[in-house]
Amino acid sequence: MFHGRRILLIIGGGIAAYKSLQLIREFQKKGATVVPVMTRGAAEFVTPLSVAALSKNKVFKDLFDLNDESEMGHIELSRSSDLIVVAPATANLMAKMAFGVASDLASTLLLATDTPVLIAPAMNVRMWEHPATQNNVKILMKNGIHFSGPEEGDMACGEFGFGRMSEPEAIVKAASEILINGPLRNKHILITSGPTHEPIDPVRYIANRSSGNQGSAIANALIALGAKVTFISGPSISEMPKNCHIIKVETAIEMLKAVKSAIPCDVAIFSAAVSDWRVENQNINKIKKNGLNDGLKINFVENPDILKTISNLEHNRPKLVIGFAAETDNLLKNATEKRNSKGCDWILLNDVSPETGIMGGEENQITLISSSENEEWPRMSKSAVANQLAKKIVDLGI
Ligand code: C5P
Repeated sequence: MFHGRRILLIIGGGIAAYKSLQLIREFQKKGATVVPVMTRGAAEFVTPLSVAALSKNKVFKDLFDLNDESEMGHIELSRSSDLIVVAPATANLMAKMAFGVASDLASTLLLATDTPVLIAPAMNVRMWEHPATQNNVKILMKNGIHFSGPEEGDMACGEFGFGRMSEPEAIVKAASEILINGPLRNKHILITSGPTHEPIDPVRYIANRSSGNQGSAIANALIALGAKVTFISGPSISEMPKNCHIIKVETAIEMLKAVKSAIPCDVAIFSAAVSDWRVENQNINKIKKNGLNDGLKINFVENPDILKTISNLEHNRPKLVIGFAAETDNLLKNATEKRNSKGCDWILLNDVSPETGIMGGEENQITLISSSENEEWPRMSKSAVANQLAKKIVDLGI
C-alpha cells in the first residue's frame, strides 16, 4: 500500500510514545520507509536505540547537529517525505504547530514543511478539553493538518475520557487515506449526529430514539474519501467514527455552539435528531413527587433550529447544506416544505413511522430532495446510504 513512500515520523514526549514503536512496524509492513525524529521528551519514554533499530534508520534529534545539517538540512528532511506523522502529538507540540514556534528540530521541521501532516494527539483529558488546546485544534484544522483521534478511554494517569492516542492501525489507516488522495481530500465536512438530551432536572431528561447510526456511517464514508470531518454528536449509542475531530454535546444549545465553532466548512450535514423543545426552567434539584397535587407540569420553549441558522448564514455559509426530514405522513409535501423553510440545499427524506423500523434500526430509505429533483433511493443499509450520499457530494465537485 505504501510501497516507495517515505514517512517522517515525529515522536513527541508522552507516555503513548511506546506505541510509536508498533507504528513504525505497521508502516513498514505496508512497505513504507520510516525516517524517525524524536523530541527531547520522547527520548525519556523510548530509547533512540530502539527507534533506530526498528526503523533501520538514523534517528534525528537535534536541530544543531552539524552532521545532520551537512548530510541533510532540516528543510530537505521536512520535504523529502510523502507524509509527516506526529505520534504522539503532545499539547505542547500542537501549540507550537498552531503558533509557528520553531524551537527544536521537530517543530522546525513542521514549520518548514509543505508535505501533508497527520497528527495523533495524546494527552490527559483535561489538557485535551482545555480551551487553549481546543483553540489550537481549530487553528490546526484550518491550516489543513489531518487528525487521527484522540480516542476515548482509560488513560495512563488514571482518568477516563478523550486524550488516548489512536491505535497504530488507525493511524496507518488515516495515513493511507491521505496518501491515497481521496476525491474529498482537503474538504472540511461538518456532521451533526445522534439525539440531544434536554434536562428536566439533574437526573431526568427529554430524549428521542435516534441511534446516531446514520450520522456515524456518513462520517465513515466521507473520511474514507479523504474529507476532514468534524463530528458533533449528542449522547449516542453508535460507535464513534475514527480519524476525525469529535465534539460530544448533550443539548441543542450546546450543539449549535459546537457547530458555530467548527465553521467554516465546505459541506454541513445535519443528521442529528435535535429536540425541538427544551424545558423552560430546569430544576436545579431533583423534582420530588410529594406536594405535586396537580401532577407535574413542565413548560417547554423552542430550541434554536441549527440547520436553519446555518442555512441562512450571510458569511461563511457552507457551499452545501444538507438536512434530514424524518416524517411519518405526507412525506414528500412535508419534506419539500421543510427544505424551503429551512433554506438548505438538499433534504434527505425518510419515513420514520414505527412499522418501517428505520429510527434506531440498521436500514434507511431515502428520497433526496434538491431544487431540481426528487430522487428516490431503494431501501438499503445505513452505510450504503452514506456511500450513496458521499458519491453525490463528490459528483457535485464541491
Ligand atoms: O424541523 P425538523 O426537526 O423536522 O428538521 C429536521 C432537520 O433539521 C434535521 O436535519 C435536523 O438535524 C435539523 N434540526 C436542527 N435543529 C433543530 C431541529 C432540527 O438542526 N432544532
